[in-house]
Amino acid sequence: MMHNEKYQLNDGSSLPKIGLGTVNIQGAIGVNNMLTAVEENGYRLIDTSTNYNNEGAVGEVIRRSSVPREELIISSKLPGAAHDYDKAIGMIQESLYRIGIDYFDKYLIHWPLPKQDKYVQAWQALIDAQKFGLIKTIGVSNFLAEHLERIIDETGVTPATNQIERHPYFNNKALVETNKKYGIVTEAWSPFGREINDVLENETIKEIAEKYGKSPAQVIIRWNLQNDVLIIPKSSSAERQKENLEVYDFELTDEDLSAIDALDKGEPGRVEDQHPNEYEEYV
Ligand SMILES: NC(=O)c1ccc[n+]([C@@H]2O[C@H](COP(=O)([O-])OP(=O)(O)OC[C@H]3O[C@@H](n4cnc5c(N)ncnc54)[C@H](OP(=O)(O)O)[C@@H]3O)[C@@H](O)[C@H]2O)c1
Repeated sequence: MMHNEKYQLNDGSSLPKIGLGTVNIQGAIGVNNMLTAVEENGYRLIDTSTNYNNEGAVGEVIRRSSVPREELIISSKLPGAAHDYDKAIGMIQESLYRIGIDYFDKYLIHWPLPKQDKYVQAWQALIDAQKFGLIKTIGVSNFLAEHLERIIDETGVTPATNQIERHPYFNNKALVETNKKYGIVTEAWSPFGREINDVLENETIKEIAEKYGKSPAQVIIRWNLQNDVLIIPKSSSAERQKENLEVYDFELTDEDLSAIDALDKGEPGRVEDQHPNEYEEYV
């Protein structure tokens, strides 16, 4: 199936180009939403986090799904309260117990939290957890150029992916380029602006969508794919989950791509003003 196209990673493994975001997908309803994504729509990559309070539901999906565990790609994230090396190792194991699996396909440091200044030891914990066989692919999230440079310098290990905020009003282009320079695959979070902004109603995007007979969401996904960016749109609706995968029957022109790039608003375009050097979550 076309939507099983993959990105090659710098650690030799690969990931589907589109995964399922799971913010606010939780409990019994959440299990049903995710089962629909996996069973009916063919999603394989599930992006969860300890902070989404849904690792239990993800585990239930794995147990109930007819798709074999080895075909699913389960990705979670280290919370800020667990950046100390020992706490990080314990948290990774705890998170695996919560989901009921014995390895993660991918695991990220959720935020760098530079004011706490423990992300290097957190990164060392992910490196060691990978050696112990607890994680296949290790990466980071919300890391800026200086954070990437520091962990690479101090540990010698480059993350495989960096999951960052990216949508047409905040396209994070310089950081996408930095990731590329290091051979890191960019993952875009809140690709539709989480419905906090009106990017799905934007006139430029609507016009491009009409031209191809596609939806604004599909145009935004294409814009990411044509920039070599992995995306994890969240949808709890079977129809929209399907729509978000039906993006391989059209191609944006360079002109379309530039028109979408031009919608960038810089820092004020962030959905919730979460600058990685300022945003703090120590839960
Ligand atoms: N690393 C980080 O710090 C971080 C931060 C934020 C998010 N994330 C990850 O990124 C994922 C995606 O981001 P997000 O959940 O914030 O927001 P998003 O994917 O930008 O937007 C989700 C919203 O868009 C709607 N939607 C989905 N598909 C649609 C379509 N085809 N047409 C119209 N509306 C559509 C969804 O509604 P329905 O559900 O009703 O379809 C939902 O309200 C998260 O779920 C999470 O896994 C990571």
